[in-house]
Amino acid sequence: MAEIVRFGVSLNKELLEKFDSLIRERNYSNRSEAIRDLIRDEFVKKEWIEGDDVAGAITLIYDHHRKDLLSKITDIQHNYQKIIISTQHIHLDHDNCLEIIAVRGNPEQVQRLADTLKSIKGVKHGTLSMSSTGKDMV
Ligand code: NI
Repeated sequence: MAEIVRFGVSLNKELLEKFDSLIRERNYSNRSEAIRDLIRDEFVKKEWIEGDDVAGAITLIYDHHRKDLLSKITDIQHNYQKIIISTQHIHLDHDNCLEIIAVRGNPEQVQRLADTLKSIKGVKHGTLSMSSTGKDMV
């Protein structure tokens, strides 16, 4: 297990009060845990900018009745099969499909795939959740 080091942080009182109220809303048990997550978020951002292996998920909501859409989404996924780990298709209701595409690979390619899928006409909403492979995370 890694050695734990304590350090002091000087903060504007008002900023600290706002931070405490934010972490209470988000159910953090203490400041240390919240600060650890903020630091990790910054490292994940850096991985997406400078790294070569990231992980994440692309989520799409689209119209089930547009059959052309389904085949377009599938065609694009075949072109990017090297970075797609798995795809889950959920029939949300009579009209809407939810697709979750788990991705891992080069951040630029993952971003390009997400942008390509999100910009297809008929896709109602798309997000890219940018995460990490966890390899370099402490
Ligand atoms: Ni469906």
